[in-house]
Formats: sequence, C-alpha cells, structure tokens
Amino acid sequence: MDFKIALIRGDGIGPEVVGEAVKVLDAVGERFGHTFTYTDVLLGGCATDAVGKSYPDGTAEKCKACDAVLLGAVGGPKWGSDRPAEERPETALLAIRRDLGLYANLRPAALRPAMADACPLKKETAEQGIDLLMVRELTGGIYFGQREKYQTEDRGMECADRMAYSEMEIERIGRRAFELARLRRKKVSSVDKANVLETSRLWRSVMHRLAEEYPDVAYEDVLVDNCAMQLVRAPGQFDVVVTENMFGDILSDEASMVTGSIGLLPSASIGDSAPGLYEPIHGSAPDIAGQDKANPIATILSVAMMMRYSFHLEAEASAIEAAVDGVLADGWRTADIAEAGVTPIGTKQMGDLICQKLRA
Ligand code: NAI
Ligand code: MG
Repeated sequence: MDFKIALIRGDGIGPEVVGEAVKVLDAVGERFGHTFTYTDVLLGGCATDAVGKSYPDGTAEKCKACDAVLLGAVGGPKWGSDRPAEERPETALLAIRRDLGLYANLRPAALRPAMADACPLKKETAEQGIDLLMVRELTGGIYFGQREKYQTEDRGMECADRMAYSEMEIERIGRRAFELARLRRKKVSSVDKANVLETSRLWRSVMHRLAEEYPDVAYEDVLVDNCAMQLVRAPGQFDVVVTENMFGDILSDEASMVTGSIGLLPSASIGDSAPGLYEPIHGSAPDIAGQDKANPIATILSVAMMMRYSFHLEAEASAIEAAVDGVLADGWRTADIAEAGVTPIGTKQMGDLICQKLRA
C-alpha cells in the first residue's frame, strides 16, 4: 500500500531522530511491500527562524494532505518565553494538535524486557512487569481555558486559568479508553479529583455511564494524588489509565520514568479522522543536539504506533518493536541507557542496527 507521511523534523535532536525513523520506515516498506512518501513540514523554532512564526500559515493543510504525521521535537533556549507567543515553539505544538483535532494522547509506558534493570523501582516491582497505556485528553481543560491577569488593590497581581470540560469532550476520550482496553488487558482506571473539582465530578459521571456500556472491561476511579503514588508503588496494576489534560501531562511523565529512559518512549495523538500525529515523548535535548548521541528508539517506536493506530498494520508494528527489542537484547545501547562499562553507540548506528534486524 501507499502512505503519505508528513515529517516535522523540528529543532535540536529532532532532525537526527526523525532521520533514523525514516530509515526504519523504508526498511518496513521493503520488507512488507509498502511505499512511504514524505513531505517535509516546517514547524517550531526552525520555522520562526525561517519565516518569523513557529506555526507557518498552511501547516495544518499540509499535514491533512498526508495519512500521518511524524514529529521529532521542537523548542530550545533560543526561542524562550521572552519571545512573543507566535514565535514560541510550544505555541505551534498546541496549535497543530488543535487544528488536527487530536484530542487523545496515547503514551505507553512499558518496561522493555532487555531493560528491566533500568527500572528505578524495587526489583520485585519491576519483576511484576509494567505495561500501561496512558490516555490523556489533549484539547480541553486548563491548558485551553481562558487566561486572566489583573492588578488587585491589596494583593498585587493576580492570575487565573479556567478549567472547563463538556460531556462531549469527556465522552469521546472515555470511549477511546474503553475501546483501547478491549485490545489490551481490559481494564480502565479513570483518574480525577472528584472530591474537589466540579469538572472531575462531571468526568466521573460520564465515565460511569460509559462503564455500563462496556461490561467486559473492568473499571475503577482513582484520585489523581493516589494515582501518582500507585504509579511508583505498584504500576503493574494499571492497564489503560485515562485522565484529563493537565493530570495526564504530569502522570504520563511520571509513568515514563518508571520504565527507565525518556529516550525509549513513543507517543501518539489521535482524533476521529486522519492524520494522527506520532512523536517521541522527549524534547529537543539541546544539550546533546548535533552530536550523534540522541537515542532514536522513542521515535522509531512512534513509527510502530503509527503502523498500529493510523494504518492498522499490526504485523508491521510488531516487527518494528521486535527489531528494537532484538537490538537491545544484543546489548547495544546509546549513551542515555548505557550501563557502566558499556561503550555506547551513536544515533545513526542504533538506527542502522534496527534496520538490519528488520531486514533479516
Ligand atoms: P528534553 O526531553 O529535551 O531533555 C531532557 C533530558 O533528557 C536532557 O538531558 C536530554 O539530553 C535527555 N534526552 C532527551 N531525549 C533524549 C534522547 N532521545 N536520547 C538521549 N537523551 C535524551 O527536555 P527539556 O530539556 O526539558 O527540554 C528541551 C527543549 O525541548 C525545551 O525547549 C522544551 O520546550 C522542548 N520540549 C519539546 C517537546 C516536544 O517537542 N514535544 C517536549 C518536551 C520538551
Ligand atoms: Mg509534558
């Protein structure tokens, strides 16, 4: 089959890791008889440098003309918070997610078999296995609410950020979570703060209604503070964890660390229609950019998610994951995941080894 993929290489290590992921896509194409064609899309700090805006006009249209979008990372100290909003890379990320209608952010946190020793939790906890999928609402809540900033008479400046959720927004993300759980271990943990927040009480009532529609899926409510604790105490208890935007932002970072390295973790953002956006969870890592040190695995596993969720190519997705696990099992490590005494390999060599496994 033929697929069109938009490539947002971005800033810092973005172009390096996307370069390796494209090699992997080509290897998948060869092995399974698909043709992937690429369209480069400018977004982030590099776009600000080129055209004065981090989110150039027509960006969403270019992406919508493709079947999926692969993004490296954007941002860096050069385009900091002192810049006007339209020049900041973060603005572009929020804008593209909104314009593509990507309301569900999927972040698997799975301990890869060859990397069990990298888990910072107790050995017994790691041995129980960690394989969860965080499903974060991505286009609502406090990150998209009205912001206010005003001077008070007696308390100095005051700021406010509004958090709002509609039943429609909660129901569509909730449904995604139950559908995804059916493909996995059939358990949904819904995270809220219903003992305090009105939005959470609405969240919980919608989730309970959905739970009745999916009697084959086990369901539980978890308060966000308890969830933060459980992720460190016993992450093996979770399968699909669904939550609102800000809670999900924080908890997904926490969940990712229990698996050992930021350089290994992929993500997907999807809506009701194509294209989905696939990207590593890490940022542009300016400290190691341009040095052939970045771990490309997170981006390569994002391509596996693209195969699974946008193209419904499960064999191709599994082949990529098996190739990554194979290279790790052979002992190859980039610097970020190298144990003491292991000589690390570079970004390009890691990409080449994964392609070799795919072709073998
Ligand atoms: P970061 O994820 O870029 O880096 C954190 C640490 O992890 C650094 O020490 C970095 O060297 C290391 N690291 C990250 N990815 C790695 C990889 N693939 N291989 C090896 N080591 C890796 O987060 P940080 O430093 O907070 O942010 C740097 C810039 O990236 C900022 O401008 C930030 O806004 C942006 N950012 C962009 C994101 C995106 O494009 N989705 C997400 C997070 C941050
Ligand atoms: Mg974050």
